[in-house]
Amino acid sequence: MIKTYGEKVMEHFNNPKNVGEIPDADGIGEVGNSHCGDIVRIFIKVSDDRITDIKFKTFGCAVAIATSSITTELIKGKTIEVALKFTNQSIINELGGLPAKKIHCSLLAIDCLQEAIYDFFSRNKRDIPPDLQHLHQRVTQEKDMAKH
Ligand code: FES
Repeated sequence: MIKTYGEKVMEHFNNPKNVGEIPDADGIGEVGNSHCGDIVRIFIKVSDDRITDIKFKTFGCAVAIATSSITTELIKGKTIEVALKFTNQSIINELGGLPAKKIHCSLLAIDCLQEAIYDFFSRNKRDIPPDLQHLHQRVTQEKDMAKH
């Protein structure tokens, strides 16, 4: 089990990729962790069901920053279908592992990506897969808890 941050985590923390906003985004996700209060926002541009651009903003810990950064790198140019199958384990593997107590931080980026896709589907009045609906309910509940 890894106890410290690997080189790749530090690289993405020190020099995060795709930071910022997309003003005319086709989908925006926002998730927060009610325990630590960290927040991630992801903006996507979609063309022919492909994520052509993706940016993120976070008020989060080092792992939230590193995982958001690597998620945007891995997802840029992928189809929505591929993006929906992406898991936090894929991110953890790409980063060369994470300390066990920081695994939950890697969920923020992945949940946020899925929320951005949920928003894209909603805006375009498309059918939303059940898994995505469940995730949206969970994220909404978490946000409500964070406010209280
Ligand atoms: Fe909150 Fe890492 S401590 S996301």
